[in-house]
This record gives sequence, C-alpha cells and structure tokens, in this order.
Amino acid sequence: MCKSIYFSLFLLVLLALLSFCQAHKEATIHELRLELNNNRINSRQLVEFYLGEIKKLNPVLKGVLEVNPDVLYEADRADRERAAKVPRSMVGLHGIPVLLKDTIATRDKLNTTAGSFALLGSIVPRDAGIVSRLRKAGAIILGKASLSEWSSFRSLGAPSGFSPRGGQGKNPYVLSATPCGSSSGPAISVAANMVAVSIGTETDGSILCPASFNSVVGIKPTVGLTSRAGVIPISPSLDTVGHQGAILIDNLEITGLDTILNATASGEAVATIAEFKIAINGFLKSLDSSRIHSLADIIEFNQKFGDLEKIAEFGQEIFLAAEATNGIMDLEKAAIANMATLTRNGYLKMMAENRLDAVVTPGSNISPVLAIGGFPAISVPAAYDDEGVPVGICFSGLQGSEATLIEVSYGFEQATNVRKLPTFLS
Ligand SMILES: *[C@@H]1O[C@H](CO)[C@@H](O)[C@H](O)[C@H]1NC(C)=O
Ligand SMILES: *[C@@H]1O[C@H](CO)[C@@H](O)[C@H](O)[C@H]1NC(C)=O
Repeated sequence: MCKSIYFSLFLLVLLALLSFCQAHKEATIHELRLELNNNRINSRQLVEFYLGEIKKLNPVLKGVLEVNPDVLYEADRADRERAAKVPRSMVGLHGIPVLLKDTIATRDKLNTTAGSFALLGSIVPRDAGIVSRLRKAGAIILGKASLSEWSSFRSLGAPSGFSPRGGQGKNPYVLSATPCGSSSGPAISVAANMVAVSIGTETDGSILCPASFNSVVGIKPTVGLTSRAGVIPISPSLDTVGHQGAILIDNLEITGLDTILNATASGEAVATIAEFKIAINGFLKSLDSSRIHSLADIIEFNQKFGDLEKIAEFGQEIFLAAEATNGIMDLEKAAIANMATLTRNGYLKMMAENRLDAVVTPGSNISPVLAIGGFPAISVPAAYDDEGVPVGICFSGLQGSEATLIEVSYGFEQATNVRKLPTFLS
C-alpha cells in the first residue's frame, strides 16, 4: 500500500510521504530516495519521524500493532552503509522503513500472529520470502500492521479491521467508517503517514478494499508472482502478497458475474475453507516454537479464551467449517473446476473478445472475479463520498499485466491527483 505510484520494486509500486513539514508529507519513494542520496535526510531521522507520528496517531487509528525494537539500529546501519557508499545503498528501498501486515513472518523480535493472541510468543522458522528480499534490498522493518484477525477468515460476524490484539482499526478520513480489511492496518498507516509503504496480503479484496477506503494506492499482484512462503495463509491458490490514448469500452458484462460474486455458488467458499485447513496446519507445523500446532488448537484456544478473543460476540464459524473438511476431495475438485470455468467464460472471454488491456471498475467490488482467476489489480484514489469517505478506482488485467496496469493507473493518478490528507472526521 502506498500513497502514489512512481517506483516499482518487483511487486510494489510505492509512494510515500515524508519530511518533517506537513507540506512534504506526501513525497514519493523516488523523492525520498533522492533526499537520502543527497544527504538532505537520513534513515534515522526518517524513522524518528514515523515513530513520532505513530505515537501521536496510533492510539486512535490502531493501524500499527508492534514497532520493531531494533528499528533505530536498522536505520543507523542503513545510514552507515550509505555513508560507506555500499552499492545497494543508493537504490530501491534501501534505508526506507516498511510496515508489514501481521500475517507476514519475521524472524526477529516482532511477533507474527495474524492479530490473534493464540500465536503470541510463537517463533517462526525464518523470515517470509518477501521479508528476506526486503532485508536484502536494505529496507528497514518498522513493525507489524494491524488487520482483520486471521485475514477475515475466522467469522463473517467480525468487523473489518478488528483483531483481539489490535482492537478496532479506524478509517483516518471518517473515524466511524470502516477501514475495510483484511489489510486494514497497512492501508490506515500509509494513509495517515505513519509509514511510507506497507505490505499487505490479499486472497479476495484484502488489499484492494482497504486501499479504496483509505485513499491509498494498493497493488495486488498476479497470484503466484510474489513469494507467499512464510505468510500465514488462507488459500494457496488465491493468496497473493501485495503491495494512453486508451480506448474506453463502457458497460461490458462479465458472464456469470452473479454466480462469481456469490462465494457459495462459485465454489470459492468450498475451495478456500479446505485449502485453508491444509495451509494453516502446514504453517503451524513449521513453527519452531508455539503452544498452537493445528487449526483444532486455535479453535480450542478461542473457546477457552472466549472473552479475550470476542468469540462469544463474533463466533468462529469459518474455522469450524474449515476444520470439518478433509482435504481436496470430489466436492472441492468440482468447486475448483467451477471457478476455472467461470473465469474462462467470464473475465478471460471478455478480455479476449474486446481485446482489452485493462478493466476499470469502481471500488473493489470486482475482487471475487480477480480472486478466482488469480488476476492482478491496482486501486488508486478516485473520490470522496458525501460523508468524506474515500473511494478508489480499480484497474485490473490478465495475469502478468502488472506493467500495463501500473502505467495506466499512474496516468490516471497523475491526471486526477485526487488524494488528500486524512481528515479525522468523527
Ligand atoms: C511479542 O510478544 C511478546 C509476548 O509473548 C512480548 O513480550 C513482546 O514485547 C512482543 N514483541 C514486540 C516487538 O512487541
Ligand atoms: C448463493 O448461492 C447459493 C447456492 O448456490 C444460494 O443458495 C444462495 O441463495 C445464493 N445467495 C444469494 C445472496 O444469492
């Protein structure tokens, strides 16, 4: 999630803010890079600025779950490397703080819990793939962002942006409005300038929806393009780690859209609960140390600590349904085949018949279509409604079309320049 589009680091296109005066808060990562390279600012100052903003804003917004106790040490190291002109230190995200959704594993002092007390204190075997790449590039891990607990996969009754550990994340534009989820914390934190850039994850709408509601840019790459290793999963076949003289064709229809938007009818629900059980049990088994070893253990923990986890209030019916599955059997195979057919007859056919480069849709309503097909998309700030709640516009395309989508959405962003600073309305 980021504020504007400019610079791309494999999956991400980011923009950022920064600076010590409000006027420069919304500088791009590219501009930040220049400030660092020209010694007009250093990473320690940058980190101290964000820590100050977190201290000031996070008690209300609850976008940040944990701050990395080693963050100043990491900043000083980045500054030393830049002073010594280490080659990697003048490019990309070197010396720039990044916030990670709490599903993204880090083998450091930070916890990785998906917002649940169940995993507090457990030890992951290694950094997630995306984290080791960020560290290799010299990025600074600022901390963990809040989220909808278990990436919204415990219960349909739990509000977006709520987790037992993080409490209720707030929309920085209208505090009473939803921040959407499940990558709520990454979007809230970037929107309110508590960090320049953050990494979320998406199975179905979890980056695009919070990006839309918090007036930031959110990139959902093609499923499989970015490494999901070490990410607390939902469904391996749908999960992804996030970030022109156009010919516009209006009013196109995606065949079977009503079915696709109904997760029961499309097969998405059947397939994801079975895949979730397999994937979460695999993740939990990989932990070096934990009191929780299986989905059954999480369910038991939730039952035992019902008040702590708000079980009584929000339930855990998705967990119970997932636990009742038994692998990828005939029912699940049929559901997966049904999603493939819906994709072939729907999105793929529409793209081919009209020879489209990209599809533009309001908000994030198209996310189930993108989820079942593994398609990439970018949400860009587009408007604010009568109450002042942000609305995004979504550019989506075929697998591997990220470069085109970045180009098109950057063009839209630069031409419209919609994003404004958070208003903190009650
Ligand atoms: C991680 O969780 C433990 C509790 O098990 C806590 O003591 C520690 O402060 C947490 N780490 C951070 C960085 O907040
Ligand atoms: C979704 O599909 C299921 C089964 O195909 C059906 O029973 C249900 O009524 C549908 N829901 C809506 C809101 O249309």
